[in-house]
Amino acid sequence: MNGLQRQTAIYLRGVSGRRPRVSTDATLLEEQAREHMPAEAFAYIAGGAGTGATIRANRAAFDRWRIVPRMLRDVSRRDTTVELFGRRLPSPFLLAPIGVLEMVNRQADLAVARAAAEEGIPMVFSNQASRPMEACAEALGDSPHWFQLYWSTSDELVESLVSRAERCGSEAIVVTLDTTILGWRTHDLDLAYLPFLRGKGIAQYTSDPVFRRLIAEEQPGGDPTPQPRPSLPALRTLVELTRAYPDRFLPALRSGLARAAVQRFVQIYSRPSLTWDDLPFLRERTKLPILLKGILHPDDAARAVDAGMDGVWVSNHGGRQMDGAIATLDALPEIASAIDGRVPIVMDSGIRGGADAFKALALGATAVCIGRPYVYGLATAGQEGVGEVIQNFRADFDLTMGLAGCTTVGEIRREALTEAQRSTVSG
Ligand SMILES: Cc1cc2nc3c(=O)[nH]c(=O)nc-3n(C[C@H](O)[C@H](O)[C@H](O)COP(=O)(O)O)c2cc1C
Repeated sequence: MNGLQRQTAIYLRGVSGRRPRVSTDATLLEEQAREHMPAEAFAYIAGGAGTGATIRANRAAFDRWRIVPRMLRDVSRRDTTVELFGRRLPSPFLLAPIGVLEMVNRQADLAVARAAAEEGIPMVFSNQASRPMEACAEALGDSPHWFQLYWSTSDELVESLVSRAERCGSEAIVVTLDTTILGWRTHDLDLAYLPFLRGKGIAQYTSDPVFRRLIAEEQPGGDPTPQPRPSLPALRTLVELTRAYPDRFLPALRSGLARAAVQRFVQIYSRPSLTWDDLPFLRERTKLPILLKGILHPDDAARAVDAGMDGVWVSNHGGRQMDGAIATLDALPEIASAIDGRVPIVMDSGIRGGADAFKALALGATAVCIGRPYVYGLATAGQEGVGEVIQNFRADFDLTMGLAGCTTVGEIRREALTEAQRSTVSG
């Protein structure tokens, strides 16, 4: 469906009195979705690090660029496809890896996978997903998916996760580098709520044979400290934990494995000592393309290519990791010139519509990611809501391209933009 068809469908439904369930403006969608979420979920998803300066900077950076439309160029036919790692994609959008989706919808990652399959948009499985990658891969069928890895302190677990991703048909591995230490997330801290400690968002671990072996090895008598009598909130948490596990794992849980799994997860999930020297370990273990996510400096981008990486993912984690970090759109042009077309550049953080995607592509991105907005679609209207968000982004992008005078993504270049100050000065 192109932009015009989507637009027409919405207006025609309006004739019979129906309005979209999910706002077509992704910036308004956040408030709409808030009504469908528990306070802890909203804080976890919408919140950023510290004072939220990076979230604001991400948006402000998009506002500093303006598109300069060109006229009389026959834009009646538009081709929004892009090629990425040998796949032709219908549009330059992917779904960013987002953990703990069970906070907003019971079907969680499965609902997203089904919507992604319907739209043919690549889904990037989060390492902190609420459903195992194999289940999502099955729901996706032939539709493309990638796996995002948090580099664990256990090499064996890293190997296991990567080989599972290969086996279930993921087409790339994305290593997220900006979260080896969890940022100072004030919204979550004020509620004293971290979903992982409730057993949420650890499905890739509890379904992993290496992880399960590691906790089994510790039981029984792994921790000799006697457990205090649990308080009522602690008991509630234990019940939540039990729900987080695959059925056949339940009996083991009752024997105390649930708590052990969460404790093990906290010790194992991330390796702050990670350096460039660790990359060959991964490079030697997979033939899949590897992208580094969280790159914000041109030297790091160039070094990633030198290290044999196949792609760079410009991201500040949607402002969730560092307060006062550089906006991704500000980082992008220098990174693009350092990369000089050698590998694709994926970009996210603050993409809220077709014009944002257009600007990112004009400044050097190959593709961009939809992040929080699809989670808000999921919270508001489940799988259908995710589908609507994807369709809206695509429609908006298609129309923006046409209105700017471009008929292919390749025509979207730096010359299509001007900086906002200049347009103010010249009136
Ligand atoms: C609730 C939430 C959970 C996230 N979980 C992950 C994750 O598990 N792995 C990861 O690499 N990035 C994660 N991210 C970051 C996203 O992949 C992406 O970089 C970010 O959402 C982009 O910013 P935006 O949503 O504001 O556009 C998460 C983001 C949010 C909002």
